Amino acid sequence: MTDGRGSSTCSDMMAEPEIASLQRELARRTRQVAALSRVAQALAGALDLHTAASAGLGYALDITEMDAGEILLWDPAREALVQVAHAGTGPEAFAEQRLFRRGEGIPGRTLETGQVLAVDVVAAGELLARRGLAAGAFRTVFSVPLRAEERVIGVLLVAGRRARHLDAETEELLRGLGGQIGLALDRARAYEREHALRRRLEALNAASLAIAAELSLPALLQRITDIARDLTGARYAALGVAGDDGRLVEFITSGISAEARARISHLPEGRGLLGLILRGSEPVRVANIADHPASYGFPPGHPSMTSFLGVPIVLRGRNLGNIYLTDKNGGEPFSDEDEQLLVQLAAHAAVAIENARLYGQTSESLQQTVAELRAANAQLAHLSSLAIGAQEEERRRLARELHDGTAQELATLLVRLRVLERTEEPHELRLRLGEFREVIARALDDVRRMALDLRPTMLDDLGLVPALEAHTRDMARRWGITVRFETQGLDRRLPNQTELVAYRIVQEALSNIFKHSQATEATVTLILRGRELRITVRDNGRGFDVGRTLASRERGLGLFGMQERAALVGGHLELASAPGAGTRVTASLPVRELAEGRETP
Ligand SMILES: Nc1ncnc2c1ncn2[C@@H]1O[C@H](COP(=O)(O)OP(=O)(O)OP(=O)(O)O)[C@@H](O)[C@H]1O
Ligand SMILES: [Mg+2]
Repeated sequence: MTDGRGSSTCSDMMAEPEIASLQRELARRTRQVAALSRVAQALAGALDLHTAASAGLGYALDITEMDAGEILLWDPAREALVQVAHAGTGPEAFAEQRLFRRGEGIPGRTLETGQVLAVDVVAAGELLARRGLAAGAFRTVFSVPLRAEERVIGVLLVAGRRARHLDAETEELLRGLGGQIGLALDRARAYEREHALRRRLEALNAASLAIAAELSLPALLQRITDIARDLTGARYAALGVAGDDGRLVEFITSGISAEARARISHLPEGRGLLGLILRGSEPVRVANIADHPASYGFPPGHPSMTSFLGVPIVLRGRNLGNIYLTDKNGGEPFSDEDEQLLVQLAAHAAVAIENARLYGQTSESLQQTVAELRAANAQLAHLSSLAIGAQEEERRRLARELHDGTAQELATLLVRLRVLERTEEPHELRLRLGEFREVIARALDDVRRMALDLRPTMLDDLGLVPALEAHTRDMARRWGITVRFETQGLDRRLPNQTELVAYRIVQEALSNIFKHSQATEATVTLILRGRELRITVRDNGRGFDVGRTLASRERGLGLFGMQERAALVGGHLELASAPGAGTRVTASLPVRELAEGRETP
């Protein structure tokens, strides 16, 4: 310290002591300003709150020549002053953490009044609420408001072992300190908030990407729940999905072990607080679950929980479920930021849940289509094997008929001819020739019929009605059944394909009648009306179970072939039959062109 003597230029006009005092004052102010600007400079770079607070407190103890201290900041979420740094010799003085409400204790009062307070430790006693202060034999505590832009954002406490008086000089110094530290801490806090927000946004972004990529609903819900817990620092998180009746159909937890979960007697039933967020549209945030009027209590075996934040999962006004967090780390209540985050996460979740549901539905119908296609494929494979089998069978039948029938007859004829060569008897000769003619006529008949079966040439040459008439007559004669044949409106030729399809359908229907029906009568009707050819083949036989026959794998190819042929030309075929009630086959075929419709065969 200098007394400033000898450096004065106005000594002539003032009394010596006065000048000396002014010079001391100037020096003191200079020191103060220098010290405070050092603090401001040092703190300007500190961006993390706790570093800034510790540094600020260190400078404060240095400048005030005090022994211990702490910095408390106002936390709006907890509505209290919360310690962010403590230091000094005998740190136990402020080691004990405590929250101060506004107006409570010395710090609470400082916050409220914005005044620097000096406290005699011994006289203040309980007001300080710091047992360590008494134990550490401190005498004086200065309580200083920390200001940022005229707001008091916290309190600086410094304690000394010497008894100190709060003179104007000290008060000014402390006030200045409170301003510098307050400003630095406010900036650091804002920076931290912004930083945390950015981190959360990044995490949220990553979360929504993860959600978009995840397609199985349970895995997706688990992911969302874990993310919510992770980003807010909650101990537990849970997500409930509501069914159409509003009750939970799915309940996903995070932060609770499988054993602990198993100990819970039953899942939430959507009463109490959870019911509130399940039905409502607003977030619910409380510092202590038990304090909320809607609180219903925990089911037996449920871990007890305090702080709570719950948000409904809503999509287009529909409640899909809820997501909630409990027990934020460090016992703090959930913050505004936590709530905003959870609301955003719930919005993501809503879309994701809906997506997963839609995807589930599509994949269900897709699976069904695939299954149907598979069945149709198997059916087709079966039918094509039947078709090949039927073709083989047809060839075998023709071979047998040719071998056992026609060839046999011709062979017999040959033998008889050889015998006849030796005969000179004219009567005998005539008799044999007559027999031969019969055998040859029969063989010719067989060959014609086989040819007709293979390809009805009559159809090409004479048309549908004569060909079917001949076929019906032939069949009736062979099987000994009365077959009526009726036509209406068919006075001209139809397109090739239509005629062939019609022919094959009647052929198969008749063949079934002869093979299976044991009928005594059958009727074939062809009616051409407008652009539709209607074919009906009826019998009075024993009938059959149509549904069962079509579904059976052992069925033949005939019924299927008829339907296929009808469909081929854009028509359709109906089968009406029941055991004991006869059978009716009805086909209706569209006829494209009538007059000029015939293509040359
Ligand atoms: N008019 C009918 N009266 C009684 N049963 C019939 C009649 N038509 C068909 N069925 C029954 O339906 C079954 C299936 O007929 P479908 O024509 O498909 O095969 P199939 O005649 O046995 O063999 P394919 O026609 O391949 O030579 C027959 O086996 C028979 O039991
Ligand atoms: Mg058949």
